[in-house]
Amino acid sequence: MQQNQDGKMNRRDFTKVSAAAGFGILAGNAFAGKKNVDTLKVGLLGCGGRGTGATVNMLEGNENVLLVAMADLYQDRLDNARDKMKNHENAAVAQKYAVQDDHCFVGLDAYWQILNTDIDILIEGTPPYRRPKHIERAVLCRKHVFMEKPVAVDPEGIRKIMEASERARTLGLSIVAGTQRRHQQDYIETIKRIQDGKIGDVLALRCYWCSGLPWARERQEGWSDLEHRTRNWLNNCWTSGDSIVEQHVHNLDVCNWVMGTHPIRVLAVGGRTWKPPEEKYGDNFDHFACDFEYENGVHLLSVCRHWNGCTDRVSEAVVGSKRESNCVDMARKRENSVNPYVQEHVDLVKSIRGEGPYLNEGVQVAESTMTAIMGRMAAYTGQMQVWNKALQTDLGLVPDDLDFAKEYPCGPVPCPVKL
Ligand SMILES: NC(=O)c1ccc[n+]([C@@H]2O[C@H](COP(=O)([O-])OP(=O)(O)OC[C@H]3O[C@@H](n4cnc5c(N)ncnc54)[C@H](O)[C@@H]3O)[C@@H](O)[C@H]2O)c1
Repeated sequence: MQQNQDGKMNRRDFTKVSAAAGFGILAGNAFAGKKNVDTLKVGLLGCGGRGTGATVNMLEGNENVLLVAMADLYQDRLDNARDKMKNHENAAVAQKYAVQDDHCFVGLDAYWQILNTDIDILIEGTPPYRRPKHIERAVLCRKHVFMEKPVAVDPEGIRKIMEASERARTLGLSIVAGTQRRHQQDYIETIKRIQDGKIGDVLALRCYWCSGLPWARERQEGWSDLEHRTRNWLNNCWTSGDSIVEQHVHNLDVCNWVMGTHPIRVLAVGGRTWKPPEEKYGDNFDHFACDFEYENGVHLLSVCRHWNGCTDRVSEAVVGSKRESNCVDMARKRENSVNPYVQEHVDLVKSIRGEGPYLNEGVQVAESTMTAIMGRMAAYTGQMQVWNKALQTDLGLVPDDLDFAKEYPCGPVPCPVKL
């Protein structure tokens, strides 16, 4: 597709996409009813722990798929992942590795290059700061998408993901997100029963991600600000969204799933209690507690924190008028339950091939990510946040002009109380 780097299409391509979009509107899913049994070519963008893991899951879970392209910001990450995939202990994975040197890309424009290849599916496993840009471009290039969560770090990014997802729908492109609980059988069965009224009316919800401190990387000699920010992405707000967005989004997503919608307002507290003011710990908080409210008046208490040596809890609970459920307790017991990290790729491929329901999880995961962002905004500012207003704010955290020669100072840690 002929496009410049600002994402502007020339007239001919615009006509092609518009024509396809028009057809999609008429047909719903352009692939619906039409089985695609051809080999699906997969490209991986973001060759770190989860991107590589997701690609393994895609290859082990599906027949007739090949990994043909890989891209990362850094050569060493790309090389490590290539090596891992090529020599994977599971022969079913290694046999589906078909990446040639001319289909490997490195740098800030690597996303552009991998999307210019003939891949059918993009596995997007980068940190969330540039995900909206990557997904917008992937849809313009007519790729199906598996994207990790969270899908953005700010409202500007959320709006981009929502627009790209709607566009994908009109083009019949499938999108699955890395909120794997949505593909986990015990969650699916239990939440169906909650929605069918088995625990009575839903009166309240609670969710938690309370665990110890995750990894933090010291700046190495010769690293620019951008290299440190991106290699230590978990610890800065503009690269990760802070922990409520990066991690707790999983639990908030389950609560939104139960409710079938997103909250409309939130009041929150948060802060940084014990993380020392060292560059490697960035500018993130280490705890948040939010009181979310849904349109029907039901409240959701959400608590997340990174404190070592304290009570750990990662779970969700729904309080019903008859009893409480932990969202997995009403599922049929099975000998071998399917790994949801694999199942999400099986479901994606079935959607693409027209062998299962059409899946487009873009808006749903954008809403769950926005729920977390809204909680963070409330905690950072001390101000109640309301959905429609928060979603429309101009808050864009990610610098437009990423450049290894520029400075991206760290911090400060937000302080809601003006002294
Ligand atoms: N669904 C889950 O359970 C789950 C689990 C872990 C991580 N994740 C998510 O997966 C994503 C990646 O996490 P990870 O643990 O694999 O991190 P990671 O640091 O191991 O990998 C990220 C990779 O992306 C690369 N990258 C960074 N910026 C890039 C850019 N602009 N263009 C191309 N490549 C870029 C990095 O160099 C690195 O190789 C995050 O959004 C994280 O929240 C999801």
